[in-house]
Amino acid sequence: MFHNYDLQIDIYDPKKVIILIYRHMVQAVSIKNVSKNDKSLEIEWNDGEKSNFHFMWLRDNCPYGVHPTARQRSFNLLTVSNNIHPKTYSITQDGKLEIKWSEGEHTSHFDPLWLRNHCYTINNKKPYTSPYVLWDARLKDDMGKVTVECEEVMNSDEGLIKWMEQLHHYGFSLLHNAPTEKKSALKILHRISHIRETFFGTPFDVINIPKPNNTAYTSLGLRNHSDLPYYEYMPGYQFLHCLVNDAKGGLSLVIDGFHVAKYLKENDPSAFEILAKTHVKFKDNDYTQNKIRIFHSPMIKLTKDNDFSEIRFSVATMAAMDCPPNEMEKFYFAYKKFAKLVHDDEFAVKFRIKAGDILSFDNRRILHGRTEFDPNSGLRHLQGYYSDRDEILSRLNYLKKIEI
Ligand code: OGA
Ligand code: ZN
Repeated sequence: MFHNYDLQIDIYDPKKVIILIYRHMVQAVSIKNVSKNDKSLEIEWNDGEKSNFHFMWLRDNCPYGVHPTARQRSFNLLTVSNNIHPKTYSITQDGKLEIKWSEGEHTSHFDPLWLRNHCYTINNKKPYTSPYVLWDARLKDDMGKVTVECEEVMNSDEGLIKWMEQLHHYGFSLLHNAPTEKKSALKILHRISHIRETFFGTPFDVINIPKPNNTAYTSLGLRNHSDLPYYEYMPGYQFLHCLVNDAKGGLSLVIDGFHVAKYLKENDPSAFEILAKTHVKFKDNDYTQNKIRIFHSPMIKLTKDNDFSEIRFSVATMAAMDCPPNEMEKFYFAYKKFAKLVHDDEFAVKFRIKAGDILSFDNRRILHGRTEFDPNSGLRHLQGYYSDRDEILSRLNYLKKIEI
């Protein structure tokens, strides 16, 4: 996803412009020469690059083996043997690679641009570039980078892209001047995609209520946390739409969990390792639910490229730890260290959400919280929604016309 972008950034200087350039995608190319090896065809391109395509890979990716409207593979790989190979190969007049196969009386034609952009020899040589711009408290002086107007999002694809890119790269965005009617955020969120339903309901009302089933529904301060960490698949994004905020207190806090994790990795690698490997028990058994939710997960999860994938942190919903006894003390030391960092003023951005704002963030990256408010000083009412990361990434891919 988004591997065809290069992010040129300096995380310690948020004033530096982010330049997104198309990197991996070649726009025009032609085949200079083709030769056959034992198991692959070797292509020499007009710009001097070389590619090797395994016979089976070529047969499996023949463009004729794709359903024309479903755009899904219809070819069955089990209909050919492991010895399949080109009987003949050539370049057609319009520059395509033509292969007549040894089996099945089949001929394939490959567009050279498609072949080049899917060349796994070249693509695997490229270093991984993270799409994430890590930030800390200094982002407060540069909020324009994570701010968007409702009107832009509603009236143009550029505005929608701007909002979703802020969410994808920074993990957080403040949308201003949305309507303040109940449920009115639905129309805005539908610009992205559908909403993810949870037992909280859609939307869920973040308001001070008697006999709350969640501390969010009180006037208490909330320490920085992820929502719903007891779900196997924690919702990717959260949207908090402020309808009224007339109460004293109740400031919002966000913190970049990936940046904190990176800091920990660099400053206390063993604590980082412990949090990346110890499975923490999270639970929800609130009195309004006829369910008991339990899920074990490390607090820090990484991707196959060793980039950050997910932070799960919620003091309120951690169950009694049940890791092996010889790991308990070390876990607590590491956990406390991380807990201190995720509340550190150096990392946190604090602001007052106002009526018509939609505070949106990647719930699997950004930790959020609020300070206590005085419920007798005025009304405070937010409406919350969730969505998955897939919805934002896939919509961005579509609007940016990502080639696959
Ligand atoms: C929540 C939450 C923050 C707030 O509802 O999950 O964290 O500002 N709310 O009330
Ligand atoms: Zn929350």
